[in-house]
Amino acid sequence: MHSSPLAPSARRVDENSIRLLPKAEVHVHLEGTFELADLLELAKESKVALPGPAATLFDIDTHFAESAGHPGGAGAGAAGLSGFLRFLDWECGLIRTAAQAARTAYRFAARQSASGIRYTDVIINPTHWSGWPGTIDSLFDALAQGFAEAEQDGLCQVQMALSLLRTQTRAEATGVVEWLVEARPARVIALSVDGNERESGRTGEKFAEAFTMARDAGLRRTVHAGESSGPEGVWDALLLLHAERIDHGVRSIEDPRLVDYIAEHGIPLDVCPRSNLTLGVYPDMERHPLAELRERGVIVTVNTDDPAPIGTRLESEWALCADSYGWDENDMIDLARTSIAASFATPELKASLLAELAPLA
Ligand code: ADE
Ligand code: ZN
Repeated sequence: MHSSPLAPSARRVDENSIRLLPKAEVHVHLEGTFELADLLELAKESKVALPGPAATLFDIDTHFAESAGHPGGAGAGAAGLSGFLRFLDWECGLIRTAAQAARTAYRFAARQSASGIRYTDVIINPTHWSGWPGTIDSLFDALAQGFAEAEQDGLCQVQMALSLLRTQTRAEATGVVEWLVEARPARVIALSVDGNERESGRTGEKFAEAFTMARDAGLRRTVHAGESSGPEGVWDALLLLHAERIDHGVRSIEDPRLVDYIAEHGIPLDVCPRSNLTLGVYPDMERHPLAELRERGVIVTVNTDDPAPIGTRLESEWALCADSYGWDENDMIDLARTSIAASFATPELKASLLAELAPLA
């Protein structure tokens, strides 16, 4: 019998079965997780006008294209990413009190739990939080409080990676890391860098000192590269920034030597398929290199990046991979295992999550 492409039986892997797997997420920006209702609530509390009708807020090309003299609004490549980052600036600018920041953190942990995510390394880039009235200390304190309350309530455990922005200066970057090393804010376990490398140009050398300081102080390192940069950005992340994981990294595929290096050194690529399609890095899943990277022995984790504006959830990303590449339940278990192993969770938590997963394999 001919079945409809929308019939549940046509799906290779059901999203509910993915949700049930104990797993981690290692590439998601807190800034990209505010749902529409959260945004409306924040805008009302902070008395900020919406840029357009509520139901169109996630239509980034309409509201956040930099109109005069700039190419924004294409929804693709560098123009798409720039508009996207402006949207994150606008949303985070709505958060002005410790209670709002803590609530945002708590709700994020709850959403992670709803997807069956038991541990998350979340990325937070303070440059987006332009409405924050206090110091960087008070922002991270408020977020840590929200995550602590969530954990006490049995929700997903969350630790933070503080992210630099590619367009920051060398002095700004080292200043942030000096503070990080001195203050040791609760739950911040890693240094990261994100933003638009097509706008910033090649910046590995500019950030080398900051990442070396972080490494020497025992902080973990994860670096956005190979999305708005090509393989050269990934090489810089590995050789100059001491990256332990690469966020995205998909354009490593353009350099076979780099693919071999990443595979040999066991550097995970934290891939976000729908983000790459939305921002025009690849036109479709057939031309996306995720499956090929995995087949060539690269460790890949599959993540959401910015789930609210992209309109995705982790189980939906994994199901998309199953549908696109013919991956089955065993591949989903493998993704779960890889996500836990690649995370910056404590060895104890990793062992206990992996032990829960073992009988399912
Ligand atoms: N910040 C949030 N999402 C990002 C992305 N996809 N690339 C670079 N920086 C980001
Ligand atoms: Zn990202």
